[in-house]
Amino acid sequence: MLNLAILSRGAALYSTQSLFRAARRRGHYVRVIDHQRCNIVIEQGIPQIIYEGVHLIGMDAMIPRIGASVTDYGAAVIRQCELMGIYTATRSEALLMARDKLKCLQKLSAEGINVPRTFIAGAPEDVPFLIDRMGGAPVVIKLLESTHGVGVILAESRNAAIALAETFFKLNQPVILQEFIREAEGADIRAFVVGRRVVASMKRQASEGEFRSNLHRGAEATLEFLTEEEEKIVLKAARLMGLEIAGVDLLRSRRGPLVMEVNASPGLEGIETTTGVDIAGAIIENVEHGLERFTKSRR
Ligand SMILES: Nc1ncnc2c1ncn2[C@@H]1O[C@H](COP(=O)(O)OP(=O)(O)O)[C@@H](O)[C@H]1O
Ligand SMILES: [Mg+2]
Repeated sequence: MLNLAILSRGAALYSTQSLFRAARRRGHYVRVIDHQRCNIVIEQGIPQIIYEGVHLIGMDAMIPRIGASVTDYGAAVIRQCELMGIYTATRSEALLMARDKLKCLQKLSAEGINVPRTFIAGAPEDVPFLIDRMGGAPVVIKLLESTHGVGVILAESRNAAIALAETFFKLNQPVILQEFIREAEGADIRAFVVGRRVVASMKRQASEGEFRSNLHRGAEATLEFLTEEEEKIVLKAARLMGLEIAGVDLLRSRRGPLVMEVNASPGLEGIETTTGVDIAGAIIENVEHGLERFTKSRR
């Protein structure tokens, strides 16, 4: 029996509940810890966390479920756990890398993974040039820290794209410009990786008149299997991000599968209900194995 903690702000959320029940079913002691209420104590070379007035002790492993709005503090709490010798299912560095869309795409592309052609301008004057270089409108404009599709815009004309990019510059909001993969027809593929396996996959189809296939934007999900090529790409992308648990999103393009993003805290509700796979169970099992390897390597 392990002493597990799920780092989550919402004990009632589907993903948290699903992991909680899976841990219980596998005979572990588990509790939900709100990472925003974890106080990091740095003194005398003994890293500690004080939670609700008491020191966290005796924890074997943490399963982070950190929301995008609190990435930095969440990562700091995970890092503290790492320093305390607690096994974490997602490493702090991996979380930070995956949450930075630009860094993530830079790394994937440098390692030979196909991604949508992506441009970033350092100054607004260069935006028109980049749009032309991309082949003109339509252009996808994305906030570097969008989630649930909010912050992802399809600029239909060259002028609209330039005006939008200029506006974001003015607001000090860095954006990326990305080629629009029209042939994906508003669909993407979500592959769920646990350890070295794709445990489930689904297709998400955007609702009528929408190009974003986020379930939060009303997209519909159906069971969909990956090709062998896609599976290889997905596993490589997760490995490059240093993630044991990842949701890898693909666009099926004319030049083959493109990795759009890698999610470090992928939701369980859509994929478990669509595919019927016990993903939470697979995650807990992976934590058991990971902890075993971790303990051996520290002896
Ligand atoms: N370059 C693109 N071409 C076509 N569709 C895209 C492109 N980029 C994003 N999309 C659509 O928009 C959705 C949201 O984009 P994404 O980059 O995943 O942002 P978020 O992190 O907010 O989910 C994707 O799931 C996909 O359906
Ligand atoms: Mg997405």
